[in-house]
Amino acid sequence: MQTFYMRTYGCQMNELDTETMAGILEKRGLVQVEDENQADLLIFNTCSIRDLAERKAMGKIGQICRGKKREKIIGVTGCMANAKKEALFRNLPHIDFVLGTNNIHDLEHVLDEILATGEKQIRIDDQFSKELDYRIAKRQDKYKAYISIIRGCDKFCTYCVVPYTRGPEVSRDPEKIIEEAKELVDQGYQEITLLGQNVNSYGKDQPDWNCLFHDLLYRLDKIEGLKRVRFLTSHPVDITRELMEAIGSLPSLCEHVHFPLQAGSSRILKKMHRIYTKEEYMEKVILLKELVPGVALGTDMIIGFPTETEEEFQETLDAMKEIRYDNGFFYTYSPRKGTPAKRWADDIPEEVKHERHQRVLALHNEIAGEKMREKLGETVEVLVEKRSSKDERYLRGLTRCWRHVLFEGDDNLIGQLINVTLHSLSHHTFIGDVKALRESLPHPTS
Ligand code: SAH
Ligand code: SF4
Ligand code: F3S
Repeated sequence: MQTFYMRTYGCQMNELDTETMAGILEKRGLVQVEDENQADLLIFNTCSIRDLAERKAMGKIGQICRGKKREKIIGVTGCMANAKKEALFRNLPHIDFVLGTNNIHDLEHVLDEILATGEKQIRIDDQFSKELDYRIAKRQDKYKAYISIIRGCDKFCTYCVVPYTRGPEVSRDPEKIIEEAKELVDQGYQEITLLGQNVNSYGKDQPDWNCLFHDLLYRLDKIEGLKRVRFLTSHPVDITRELMEAIGSLPSLCEHVHFPLQAGSSRILKKMHRIYTKEEYMEKVILLKELVPGVALGTDMIIGFPTETEEEFQETLDAMKEIRYDNGFFYTYSPRKGTPAKRWADDIPEEVKHERHQRVLALHNEIAGEKMREKLGETVEVLVEKRSSKDERYLRGLTRCWRHVLFEGDDNLIGQLINVTLHSLSHHTFIGDVKALRESLPHPTS
C-alpha cells in the first residue's frame, strides 16, 4: 500500500477529520493522490445530514466498488458510517472497512488488521473519548486552519442525525487547544476557525476546567501573532452576552456570527426542539448588533418542515427581511432515520418545498446583494489567499466578514493581511484595490 485517495462530503468537521486521517496516512509513508485510479487505499468520509448527501456518497462509492481491483482497500468513514454501521457491508459488498466519527485514531490499527487477515473491519464508538493528535493533520490551506474544540452534540433537534452520528458533547482540553493554535501561528497561519457542532457549549461538560467558550476566546486572543479567530457553529440558545462582548472587544475575533435560525415560526421552532422562540432569537440579534457594530450574520434554514403552513413559511421570510442576513444556507427538509421527526408525516409536497425554497433563495440573494452594495467604497481587511484560478490578473482573499474579494497585486502579498478598498461587485464577490498594508491603517471594521 503506497498511495491513498480521500473524498470528503459534509461539513467542516468532516474536512478536519479528513485532514487528520491524511496526516496519519502520510506519517505511515503513504502518498496522497488526486486520481482515484492511482490509489491503493480509498477513503470516503461521508455525511448523513440529508438524503441527498447520502445518495451522492453511496452513488460514488458504488461506482468505485464496481471497478474495484482485488488489491485495493476501500473504507467508509464519517457520519454515514455511524448511521448505517454494518448495513454498509450489505449495500456495498466490496468495501473493506467502516470507521465511525469517534474512531479516527483506530485508522492505522484497522489497516494493519486488514493487511494481516484480509478480513473486513468495523469500529463504531458511541462517544468520542480519546484525544486525537490533530497536530498531525495535513492542512489544506496555508494561512487558514481549523481547530476542533468540541465534538458531538447534545441538543437533539428533532430533524437532525448529528447527535446520533457524532455522539454526546465532549470538549477538548483548553491547554491542548492553545498549544495547537500557537503551533499553527508559528507555522505562519493567520486565521483559525474553531470547530464544533455547537461551539458555545464549550466547557459545560467540564466544569472543573472553569473555561467556557468566551473564556477560551479571551485566552486565544492573547496569542501573539494570531490575527483572526472565527467559530462554527453556534446554537442561538447558547449565545450569551459575554460571548457577544468578546466578539465586540477582542481584536482577533472576526465580526461574523453564524447562528442558524432554522425557521421563523415559533410553533415550528418548538416542533424542531430548537428551545428558543422567534422573539428570543430576535432579542439576541438586536443585542448582538448593538454590541458588535457592523456584525455580519449568517443562518441556516429548513424549508418545508412537517406541518409548515404557507403563513408560517411567510414568517421565515419576514424574519429574514428584519434580520438581513449576510450569508445563508437554505435546505428543504429531509426526513432522517432514527430522528423523532421521522415519525411524523413528511407532509409538505416536494413541489411546495421546492417553490418555497426558490422564494427564500431569491429573497436572500436580494438582501445579501443590497448589503454588499452598501459596503462599496469601504476599506476592509483582507487575508490574501492565492491567485484567482478563474482570472490570473487577480489575487483572491477573505474579509473578516467572510466575503471573497478580488484585486490586482503581486504574489508577495499572498499570506498577508492587507487593506483593500471595495469598488465593485461581480456576483457575490467584491472587486477592490489594494490600499495599503494593514499595519499602516487603523483597526478595520470589516
Ligand atoms: N450544529 C449546527 C448545524 C449542523 S447541520 C446547528 O445547529 O446550527 C447543518 C444544517 O443542516 C442545519 O443547520 C440545518 O439547517 C440543516 N439540516 C440538518 N438536518 C436536516 C434535515 N433533516 N433536513 C434538512 N436540513 C437539515
Ligand atoms: Fe443538529 Fe441541532 Fe445539534 Fe445542530 S444543534 S447539530 S441542528 S441537533
Ligand atoms: Fe454531515 Fe456529519 Fe457534518 S452528518 S454535516 S458530516 S456532522
